[in-house]
Amino acid sequence: MAIIMDGNGRWAKEHGLSRVEGHKEGAKRVKDVMDAARECGVKYVTLYAFSSENWSRPKAEVSALMKLLEHSLKSYAKDFLKNKIRFRTIGDISKLPEKTVTLIEKLKEETKDFNEHCLVLALNYGSRDELLRAVSKIARDAKQGIFSPEHIGWDDVSEYLDTADIPDPDLMVRTSGEMRISNYLLLQSAYAELYFTQVNWPDFGRDEFMRAIGDFERRERRYGLTGEQIK
Ligand code: IPE
Ligand code: IPE
Ligand code: MG
Repeated sequence: MAIIMDGNGRWAKEHGLSRVEGHKEGAKRVKDVMDAARECGVKYVTLYAFSSENWSRPKAEVSALMKLLEHSLKSYAKDFLKNKIRFRTIGDISKLPEKTVTLIEKLKEETKDFNEHCLVLALNYGSRDELLRAVSKIARDAKQGIFSPEHIGWDDVSEYLDTADIPDPDLMVRTSGEMRISNYLLLQSAYAELYFTQVNWPDFGRDEFMRAIGDFERRERRYGLTGEQIK
């Protein structure tokens, strides 16, 4: 499952709080969602935490988000180890504060052998940025003769994406009522089922998670075939 965790700012406004308070409340939902995912056997949860476009927000909000990220990583570390959750990231983390990068690398290393559940955080992620970085590596490898341009297939290309060995999402959820993808997993969600809910991210708990799963289970996925073909 991939989730666009949206609506922290609107949630805060509704509660007479600052946007940063909204982000803090939102960060707490990550644990609820991880618990719910383990409960119903969802192996991969990929959360959009900070987009490549979010850097353009007011400086104070960006730095509060970076601080919150650092704090959340520290507090979630125990849970990842206790519940055997592998931690991974997608996006260009080299642009994050050095301390945060160190924390991320440490947590990835400590959890790298867990294979039942995986939390993927999208940090400084944007599909177009991901594609640009991939294309540049593909061009370099083609030039060096690592593969021939005539024989490149989708499997080869997908190996250059940040999600190289992470399965494509089956379900893409966006909270807060917005119905757009905002540069998230554009290629990977080619055949994902989309689920939009009005609920703001800080209100997205276990019940909301289960509702999304329930909705997904009623979908008929056809992958270009006719309804009769897949019966
Ligand atoms: C999502 O909530 C969190 C991030 C993008 C980091 P928003 O901050 O986008 O909340 P709204 O959309 O302004 O309500
Ligand atoms: C998408 O939400 C990014 C994250 C949830 C991290 P935004 O709030 O940034 O997206 P737009 O600007 O409404 O498209
Ligand atoms: Mg938003």
